[in-house]
Amino acid sequence: MKKMIHVTLAAFGLLLITSTSVVAKESIASLRGTEDLQGNSVKTGKKKVVSQEGGFERSYKQQPPMTPHKTDKYKISLKSNGCLKCHSKKNHKKEKAPMLGESHFLTRDGKKLEKVSSRRYFCTQCHATQVDANPLVKNEFEGLK
Ligand code: HEC
Ligand code: HEC
Repeated sequence: MKKMIHVTLAAFGLLLITSTSVVAKESIASLRGTEDLQGNSVKTGKKKVVSQEGGFERSYKQQPPMTPHKTDKYKISLKSNGCLKCHSKKNHKKEKAPMLGESHFLTRDGKKLEKVSSRRYFCTQCHATQVDANPLVKNEFEGLK
């Protein structure tokens, strides 16, 4: 009896192994394609940041607008914030730049501050520059008009 159980288990195990390997071969495709997992990736070319006069259209009301200009010269550190040289309440008129959104002056409890809230200090966390590149995967997202 014991021997029979062993034989049955072994046969079942074999079946399981063969069936999973067939599945793996047929239906799991990686975005990496046939690229070797251990190999080095190909260095991508440097893409030019797109500047867009008037800014990029937003896809929905609360979207952080995308940055329509180069930003590699503007550093953000604990001591200074290059973006505020143009976008702060104080400088935006002189620099003809849009001022930070109202929400940037609120604490998490909704209290209004004079200076930008620490929650909104690291601008590039939400505002990203854009390059003229083809999407990696097809995307049919359509923004609200
Ligand atoms: C030298 C001045 C200057 C600096 C510094 C600067 N910007 Fe700007 N920014 C502008 C101007 C001017 C515009 C408006 C461009 C237009 O609409 O044609 C703008 C537009 C934007 C917008 C689009 C706003 C909207 O409503 O569409 C975002 C987002 C933005 N900047 C983010 C940043 C971030 C993040 C940094 C720092 C990494 C930064 N900017 C630094 C001048 C500046
Ligand atoms: C946590 C995400 C977040 C961070 C960090 C952030 N923003 Fe924004 N920003 C937003 C969102 C969301 C909006 C759109 C809603 C609004 O205006 O408040 C916006 C709007 C703006 C606008 C357009 C305002 C308008 O009236 O059209 C400018 C300019 C801007 N941000 C600049 C900045 C700069 C400069 C910094 C850094 C000091 C910054 N933001 C940090 C999320 C963020």
